[in-house]
Amino acid sequence: MKGTIAICLQDLVKTKFGEDNWETILVKSGLPKDLVIYAHHDIEDDVIMKVINSTCEVLNITLQQAADAFGEYWMNNYAPKKYFAFFTGDKTAKEFLLNMDKLHAKLTDKIENAKPPKFTYDDIDKNTLIMTYISSRNLEPIWIGLIKGVGKYFKENINIEKLSENKVKITFG
Ligand code: HEM
Repeated sequence: MKGTIAICLQDLVKTKFGEDNWETILVKSGLPKDLVIYAHHDIEDDVIMKVINSTCEVLNITLQQAADAFGEYWMNNYAPKKYFAFFTGDKTAKEFLLNMDKLHAKLTDKIENAKPPKFTYDDIDKNTLIMTYISSRNLEPIWIGLIKGVGKYFKENINIEKLSENKVKITFG
């Protein structure tokens, strides 16, 4: 997966939990404590998973808590700065989520080896969306954490009901 995901996690841990914890997480994952990550370089998926698991152990939080913190930070701190062009058009959380399939396809179009997640939708009504997540990586907790982050970014109350492993019903407002 692209290094940008790991850079976001690194920024989040360093700012909210301190540099020492980030170093401990890297060492626990079998990586050098002064590792430099490049946004466009590939990091093997199992290395990223090791880092995420070590984050949970070191910070003593569950995978969903880590994923929620990641989703909130990605949507409210990291991506608006790094990918500001994608934050101009959509006015609501629902519009933004409906754009995520196209955004991931477009963003990774020119990046070699990128395997973006795919999303399909059932647009039920103004306040209800069914969203399905399709990826060989099965990072459902991160997907859910990101949906919550979208709600926070647009300052909307959203409710997420799991319909199956990779399908949720999202209610807005
Ligand atoms: C402007 C906002 C966003 C940008 C710029 C963005 C960009 C990216 C990029 C570059 C990757 C790595 C892809 C790869 O290495 O193959 C990624 C992965 C991912 N994104 Fe986003 N993303 C955004 C918002 C979201 C949102 C809101 C969701 C969920 C609703 C989401 C779900 C995911 C998931 C689950 C992955 C992990 C890869 C996988 O599951 O296969 N992203 N994203």
